[in-house]
Amino acid sequence: MAERDQVYSCQLCDNVVVVVRGGQGQLVCCGQPMELMDEQTADFTTEKHVPVIEQIEGGYKVTVGSTIHPMEEAHYIEWIELIADGQSCRKFLQPGDEPVAIFETAAAEVTAREFCNVHGLWRS
Ligand SMILES: [Fe+2]
Repeated sequence: MAERDQVYSCQLCDNVVVVVRGGQGQLVCCGQPMELMDEQTADFTTEKHVPVIEQIEGGYKVTVGSTIHPMEEAHYIEWIELIADGQSCRKFLQPGDEPVAIFETAAAEVTAREFCNVHGLWRS
């Protein structure tokens, strides 16, 4: 059973989907069940992936990560997301961009997630 905000990937075609409403059914792609991606919270690679959240005037700045993550063609941060008070905001990135996103919100408590094309989903 899928739940809202879960991220699933297809091991065959590399489709990645985010659930906006959970249902009873199993998510299937290319004829096989999609894999639920873990929200990783502790770095094990030399690159740093855990999003760093900084409160700024009018909102939050999210940087990936404590040491800036590479943004190369073969290895980069695809998106950064802020979840707060029932809102979800996502900034999509390209190789060469800075792995940084600024989100305007008055929310007091926020969660940030990011997706690395090599190392998957991360949360702080
Ligand atoms: Fe990475």
